[in-house]
Amino acid sequence: MKATLQFIGHIDTPYTAIEDCPNNVDLNGPLCQLVVHEEFINGLSGLLPGQKILILYWFENTDRNATKQESNNGEELIGTFALRSPHRPNPIGAAVLPIETIDHGVVSVKGLDCLTGTHLLDIKPAILQEDSNKNTK
Ligand SMILES: C[S@@+](CC[C@H](N)C(=O)[O-])C[C@H]1O[C@@H](n2cnc3c(N)ncnc32)[C@H](O)[C@@H]1O
Repeated sequence: MKATLQFIGHIDTPYTAIEDCPNNVDLNGPLCQLVVHEEFINGLSGLLPGQKILILYWFENTDRNATKQESNNGEELIGTFALRSPHRPNPIGAAVLPIETIDHGVVSVKGLDCLTGTHLLDIKPAILQEDSNKNTK
């Protein structure tokens, strides 16, 4: 069975080269913009500044056959599913960050770790275990 994805927009970041991208998100990093395609802008209604969102994005030119790869310390080979590496069968990136602003289909967040122009797959409200624990004493 095959799945079909559609991009809902793209991500603007300061990074134009892979080697300039941070290895992961940084809550205090530079402003980045999720630019949502016109036909999906209505889907942003209900989201609010300050709210944490799960951002899903699509990595390109990656190794989709990698099952084991070097960890950051480069000392051992580790299973792909134990890593946040972009090299994976389905090269989907994920980040949870708070919304800074929302303006005419552009959602600003701080500190994404992807190239500028990266395709945006989805935005969802983040449900964090820590947050839900607060409500279930
Ligand atoms: C380690 S991944 C982590 C991504 C995400 N935070 C996650 O956990 O799924 C981040 C790295 O992916 C690579 N990368 C960023 N944007 C990319 C793109 N558009 N295509 C391919 N690789 C990309 C860069 O090397 C960057 O440092």
